[in-house]
Amino acid sequence: MFQCFELLSQSGDLMMIKKVNNTLIIKIDPKKPDGEELKLAAEMIRRGELVAFPTETVYGLGADGLNPVAVRKIFKAKGRPQDNPLILHIAEVKVLDMIADNIQDKALKIMSAFWPGPLTLIFNKKPSVPDEVTAGLSTVAVRMPSHPVAVKLIKAAGIPIAAPSANLSGRPSPTTAEHVVRDLSGKIAVIIDGGSTEVGLESTVLDITCDPPTILRPGGVTYEELIDVVGDVRIDPALENEENFVPKSPGQKYTHYSPKASVVVVEGPMKQQVNQILKLIKLKADSGLKPGVLATDQTKEFYNGVDVISLGDRDMPYTISARLFSALREMDDRDVDVILAEGIEEKGIGLAVMNRLRKAAGYNIIKV
Ligand code: TXA
Ligand code: MG
Repeated sequence: MFQCFELLSQSGDLMMIKKVNNTLIIKIDPKKPDGEELKLAAEMIRRGELVAFPTETVYGLGADGLNPVAVRKIFKAKGRPQDNPLILHIAEVKVLDMIADNIQDKALKIMSAFWPGPLTLIFNKKPSVPDEVTAGLSTVAVRMPSHPVAVKLIKAAGIPIAAPSANLSGRPSPTTAEHVVRDLSGKIAVIIDGGSTEVGLESTVLDITCDPPTILRPGGVTYEELIDVVGDVRIDPALENEENFVPKSPGQKYTHYSPKASVVVVEGPMKQQVNQILKLIKLKADSGLKPGVLATDQTKEFYNGVDVISLGDRDMPYTISARLFSALREMDDRDVDVILAEGIEEKGIGLAVMNRLRKAAGYNIIKV
């Protein structure tokens, strides 16, 4: 770490850097991601250290994806189960040849439509990919992010970067550097602060080793968008009835996205949702608990005297995905005991929003 500071002082821009619990926080403007700070972060990755960085979906916790020792550090820092594989992040399609085998025409078509962007593809893996990345599977997950800081970091490091979301395992994924600082400062070398992420929830994971291609995790690229390009796309049945199926994407079986407060999702027509939540507010308050409501712009006025956060406009679900994870963390900051959340329609990115919300609730769902 000392060498790291030496490198920085040579760069002469210490204003952009601070240290929290021994972790360097480096601020990088996404509009100008070219400075010495970025080269330093890339150098840390090459040396086998962990660097958290912004992507367009959520912040990632990056390590040299071809170095098993570095990859193991990711699992330790996050407290992540060993059998949950990681995504390799690349910045140029030519790098794919190094890590993926048997790349078919349909893959090229999908990549040219959605990369760079919030879509992760599952390929057969090449032997160069360590078992630590794939948790021993014969396949590897690959994504090309579009965030300018992520792109520059991967290019400067010159290697595929393995990166899960940069949260402690089980917690909501981080959408700001501050979220990462809270979860991981003291456990990793560097956090790059590049502002808030845009999509707000993770990439879609699409398995293209099977026919038809199958969505293992809904995310930033929607089912409807995929259908337009791919034609036939299946949604992993494990996503529709998670209690009874074994998911193909190992990450889908773990408790996820959980704030400290318990979460209840109320699903159904808007008016009935509001009435049900008003009843629950009273019930919870009567039993001595502090309720909070995750509402929408259309409903936030109905809830008086409790902590209310509007996730956004029901008719613009992208506003809701962008706010969801930070709102879950904000409810914890407000010391709420139980979060009552309105469900939204499972159209477009609404499918991914509802996947995350139901998981955050541990499937504690009330249908009205
Ligand atoms: O948007 C994102 O995807 C973010 C940013 C940082 O890129 N990353 C992310 O990584 O969400 P993580 O580790 O939190 O989620 C990766 C998901 C997990 O559900 C994992 O099980 C699945 O991808 N996965 C990884 N490799 C796989 C494979 N070979 N087969 C099936 N699923 C896989
Ligand atoms: Mg994650």
